[in-house]
Amino acid sequence: MLNITVLVSGGGTNLQALLDAQSRGEIQNGQIHCVISSNPNAYALERAKKAEIDTEVILRKTFETAEQYDQALVELLKKHDTDLIVLAGFMTIIGRAVVEAYPNRIVNVHPALIPSFCGKGYYGLRVHQAALDAGVRITGATVHLVDEVCDGGAILMQKAVEVRQDDTPESLQRRVMEQAEWKLLPQAVSLICQGKIQVQNGKAIIKE
Ligand code: GAR
Repeated sequence: MLNITVLVSGGGTNLQALLDAQSRGEIQNGQIHCVISSNPNAYALERAKKAEIDTEVILRKTFETAEQYDQALVELLKKHDTDLIVLAGFMTIIGRAVVEAYPNRIVNVHPALIPSFCGKGYYGLRVHQAALDAGVRITGATVHLVDEVCDGGAILMQKAVEVRQDDTPESLQRRVMEQAEWKLLPQAVSLICQGKIQVQNGKAIIKE
């Protein structure tokens, strides 16, 4: 059984999707046992408390350097015996020390079809604004492993979502969450926990 720690910063709807999947028995061989937030006011923390899951808050600004922050985050993850880290709307960039401590053991959900609308500066509503600005007809979500490159690790799952002509960033975000993110993230986490994902030459192979 893998101990899962979920990292959050905001509303926590992806965390909620994971918690709901867990209560339906859909996260096989994994258990969410800790939620770490980069924001003390994140509603995600309320969701975790309601589910009786341990919570922690770690603020980047309380550390002088990114290296000190990364070290403290690794210590916190180890304190909670973390086997698998899920970035579910986590808005602080994590550095090399964290990636090296958890190789192929960090998964992220991104609200676009990588390699479109991703990398530094593309997060939250900005991703959907960029998709609308580009006039794409299709966007979606990607669940991927995390390496040192922002939004650059092996892709695990993707799902396309229609863009409508009257969409706002908010309406598009909601559709991408409902139709893609909340479904893909629990599925991908369960596959990792069951040892069904292998990485070869930077690409993920899923053993069904
Ligand atoms: C989600 O759409 C997630 O994909 C995105 O932030 C939102 C968090 O919502 N993450 C990123 O943009 C990371 N680059 P939530 O707190 O309700 O899960």
